[in-house]
Amino acid sequence: MKSTINGTPLFYEVSGNPAALPVVFIHGFPFSCEMWSGQVAAVQDQYCALTYDVRGHGQSNVGDGQYTIELFVDDLIALIDYLKMESAVLVGLSMGGYIALRALERNPERVRAAVLCDSRSEADSNEAKLKRAAGIASVKKHGAAAFADQFVKGVFAARTFEHKPELVDRIRRVIAGMSPLAIAGTLLALAARTDTTESLPRIKAPTMILVGEQDAITPFDAARAMHQKIPNSELHVIPRAAHMSNLENPEVFNEKLLLFLRRVS
Ligand code: MLT
Repeated sequence: MKSTINGTPLFYEVSGNPAALPVVFIHGFPFSCEMWSGQVAAVQDQYCALTYDVRGHGQSNVGDGQYTIELFVDDLIALIDYLKMESAVLVGLSMGGYIALRALERNPERVRAAVLCDSRSEADSNEAKLKRAAGIASVKKHGAAAFADQFVKGVFAARTFEHKPELVDRIRRVIAGMSPLAIAGTLLALAARTDTTESLPRIKAPTMILVGEQDAITPFDAARAMHQKIPNSELHVIPRAAHMSNLENPEVFNEKLLLFLRRVS
């Protein structure tokens, strides 16, 4: 379903019991809400699952291609307003985690609990910003398919390439289907995001942090640093997974998610 949210058409899907606790899944860059299908299937019997495509991604409109994480949080809050969800559990992977962390800082009253997966609170280092700049130049020159070929190399564990090549292909296709303008615009938004570390000790919402044991993009140290600062948070390592932990090991990921949701509902 597509509706105009915060001035732009965004694609979203609501599954499960509309009267139950809302669980909002926020995908990473440069993916789409399709990456959460295994989690939606796991939770929809007991919860109201909302997935959506972040502006510029999946089936949501690209618009002018000028984005900020702030704008993505505006979109998220406008979407849950539109759906009349007073507060929700936010489950964000990587960029989805950056969006959830900024929402926790800005609109804590709307966040019932948070699951931060393969994410971090620190802003980009200079080195990371330069890497984003190279990514922007590359996607403008070579297009989204070439960007996808490069990108997937860094996000999956070696065993995923070996045992689940169809998963790698699925994600490659999602990225290749994106507009180069939206990829470049999101890279700029990621490079310009604020550092949310300072606000972590003020988080009151129950928080679970998940990280793939081989995540090289947002590694265990970044997850542990958040865990040490967020009061009463829990941290779990997802075995046999890298950056795409929900896709690479959905069994363990879903088990942790369901236990956490039961505790916070
Ligand atoms: C993501 O998965 O959302 C991105 O890898 C995040 C990032 O590049 O910082």
